[in-house]
Amino acid sequence: MCGIIGVAKRRGNAVAEVLEGLKRLEYRGYDSAGLSVLSGGAIATVKRGGRVSGLEEGAAALSGGVAIGHTRWATHGEPSDQNAHPHTSGAFSIVHNGIIENFAELKAELLADGAEFLSQTDSEVIVKLIDKYYKGDALSAVAKAVERLKGSYALAVLCRDFDGIIAVKYKSPVVVGFSESGVTLCSDVPALPAEVTSVCVPEDGDFAVITAQSARFYNSSLTPVMRVRRPVFLDQFNSGLGCYAHYMIKEIHETQRTVRETCEGFFRTVDVKRLSEYVRGADRIIMTGCGTAYNAGLAARRFFSDRCGVFCQVEIASELRYFPPRVTPATLVLAISQSGETADTVEAVQELKKAGARVVAVTNCGYSAITRVAHMVVPVCAGAEVCVAATKSYTGQLAALYLISKLSCDVFDAQSELLSVCPRIGEVVKGAERAKEIAALCAQSKAVFFLGRGIDYAVAVEASLKLKEVSYVFSDGYPAGELKHGTLALVDENTLSVFVICDEALAEKCLNAASQIASRKGKVAVITCLDGVAEKLKGTATVWKIPDSPLNLSPFSSAVALQLVAYHAAIILGRDPDKPRNLAKSVTVE
Ligand code: AGP
Repeated sequence: MCGIIGVAKRRGNAVAEVLEGLKRLEYRGYDSAGLSVLSGGAIATVKRGGRVSGLEEGAAALSGGVAIGHTRWATHGEPSDQNAHPHTSGAFSIVHNGIIENFAELKAELLADGAEFLSQTDSEVIVKLIDKYYKGDALSAVAKAVERLKGSYALAVLCRDFDGIIAVKYKSPVVVGFSESGVTLCSDVPALPAEVTSVCVPEDGDFAVITAQSARFYNSSLTPVMRVRRPVFLDQFNSGLGCYAHYMIKEIHETQRTVRETCEGFFRTVDVKRLSEYVRGADRIIMTGCGTAYNAGLAARRFFSDRCGVFCQVEIASELRYFPPRVTPATLVLAISQSGETADTVEAVQELKKAGARVVAVTNCGYSAITRVAHMVVPVCAGAEVCVAATKSYTGQLAALYLISKLSCDVFDAQSELLSVCPRIGEVVKGAERAKEIAALCAQSKAVFFLGRGIDYAVAVEASLKLKEVSYVFSDGYPAGELKHGTLALVDENTLSVFVICDEALAEKCLNAASQIASRKGKVAVITCLDGVAEKLKGTATVWKIPDSPLNLSPFSSAVALQLVAYHAAIILGRDPDKPRNLAKSVTVE
């Protein structure tokens, strides 16, 4: 939530690089954007409500070797020019990601001192405090100011008297990247420029003093500290849209590659022996995450219940954090997060780790906060996922969790079984016409219900999230058996019910439910990998027959089919599927 960037260049103009970085960071928020540049001992700022592209005209006249930028997801104050970052005061300009919980009390104190505020943001108090404490030493002033803050903050600070950037990290993410041309700080690794060859990840409480030549790190008492510099290869993260109209459809098409690379990454990087000891020795498995990551856990629970014989539960991280179950040193927590930065998930697993559980992070971002909490990391190798709606990362999470679940059995089988999903996914992505047909029904409906039983129910819940997120059509996902316990009352000719039917043992029951809906004039669509469903529902439902699949592997293709439906519904309704209103990709605040 909110992206920050700071660039200190040896030669040339940092403004263009900040603008490019902000475009890469836009998935973290896109309510407003701004940048400040230092040139000849003066700071110039341009900021606007709206997207980063709106800055380009104002920024064209600016240049300088050191600049900071921000793209915002509003927490305090509406998206507007005034509330956009950077915020400035006296010699300083700052960008902030996080939340200052005690801003009201600090603001009252600063107002009593005679300070004037131009925005409704919590962030503006930070720059006012820094300015208040400034006596010629910028680092000390920043340190004194952050001592007063409660909450979370990743800050980049420009001071007109210092040819560099001061950064601070506490609970919000920041990385520092190094390249031939200088030093870049950024909210996360995938948004760094491609020429960056190594990164340092500051710890909570760290300050970084960044110039075009170097970055020096200090702990919260301003004692110099060493932070490990690790190599990175960023080309894969910055591949752009290519021939696709949107990242959502591009990323859906990258699903097969994600499954293959996740499988390869698992056997290349994971200590399989140690992980199987965790799985086999577990007294129970708790999977946790938010949104789509939670939904991946819902589907994966079926993998574990079939194979491990160990009790497995799935919990929403924001709930788990405040109502933690009792754990033992043998409890295995699988923390699922694409970004690895979701505050609710990171905090929840921190609690469970403190209580003694083993934590394994299943994540797409190797340098993220969750990897620093976990005892072990299982990589999801989806590459950068730019679209706010998670698509290939969901399937990548399923792949990683499938492999983990198989550790109690014969893991070598698992690899070939898992890779067998790729040609089926390939067939599904060719089915655009079917997807468009069902998408058109979604777009015409006042509500869309997704139903399934067993593992199909888990897919239905994710399909519902995807549709509502990118098309803004109201939808709900629930177990098909619940229909007659209440939801049937909502069915009429303006609603669509989409069934996922891949479990042969439960198919008849779902078909009955579909008939009950059709006889009440509700529209029905079905995604199925079973033969004969279309014939049984002839004349009453739109049926998309996807390739046959073993039950536990069916979510890999049924979920992709439903992602395509959501994408096309968004396009029919004229939405931007990559940047849905009010959302951001990394939810780093509670
Ligand atoms: C899904 O399309 C959403 N973008 C959202 O639900 C997301 O999955 C959730 O915020 C969790 O994010 P994470 O995987 O980065 O932790």
